[in-house]
Amino acid sequence: MLKISHLKAGYGDTAIIWDLSLEVNAGEIVALIGVNGAGKTTLLRTIMGLLAPWSGSITYRGRELTGLATDRIVGLGINMTPQGRRLFAGMSVEENLLMGAFLRRDGEIKADLERIYGLFPRLGERRRQTAGTLSGGEQQMCALGRSLMSRPALLLLDEMSLGLAPVVVEMLLDLVLQIREQGTTVLLVEQDVEEALLRADRGYVLEGGRISLSAPAGELLADRKLQEAYLGL
Ligand SMILES: Nc1ncnc2c1ncn2[C@@H]1O[C@H](COP(=O)(O)OP(=O)(O)OP(=O)(O)O)[C@@H](O)[C@H]1O
Ligand SMILES: [Mg+2]
Repeated sequence: MLKISHLKAGYGDTAIIWDLSLEVNAGEIVALIGVNGAGKTTLLRTIMGLLAPWSGSITYRGRELTGLATDRIVGLGINMTPQGRRLFAGMSVEENLLMGAFLRRDGEIKADLERIYGLFPRLGERRRQTAGTLSGGEQQMCALGRSLMSRPALLLLDEMSLGLAPVVVEMLLDLVLQIREQGTTVLLVEQDVEEALLRADRGYVLEGGRISLSAPAGELLADRKLQEAYLGL
């Protein structure tokens, strides 16, 4: 579904990603693991067309994405829930959710709002509350719900668990399983590596600007070096 080959990207004259290749197949949950500053967010922003790559290719269902504007990429069925949530703090929960549907012209937006409220009852109860006054967990639900409102076929999730209690993290990651059941493919960047790998099919480790390790999630969980480096075991 998504195929990245020999990607190079960075800021100014500093390369962050050197020679990165990875693939995500339809229906998978794929975890992307890497230390702070490894370039995970940079990669996701490059996929979304928010950052222009220096070289290499990113194809989605066989089509080249590099050079396309972000709204075109969203229109093709990819969405990102950004690190730090980036809600419109002064707008209500519902207004934030509707922002996720701004490219849609179909008649099912109302029905999808109800589907989101079914997935996150807490958001339904708070649909008129301003997003800036939500708890951290509720804000993350709202950011995730906003992404889902674009009906993505491929969802990029950047650090959902940041600053959240373990029970909330588990709840959100279990929802990712449900989202996949409903037909969305997921590329998951998660600092809670163990919780992410417990739910992912496969994982990639990003190190030194490239993929240093790629394996089924279960193998990564059992990998001694990975345990020492990322799982604190
Ligand atoms: N707009 C920018 N301009 C210059 N450098 C940047 C910019 N954004 C990120 N960087 C640098 O690029 C590197 C990779 O950052 P990135 O945010 O992709 O890492 P990350 O793997 O997502 O880290 P984290 O786990 O902390 O979110 C870092 O050294 C960061 O300082
Ligand atoms: Mg990041």
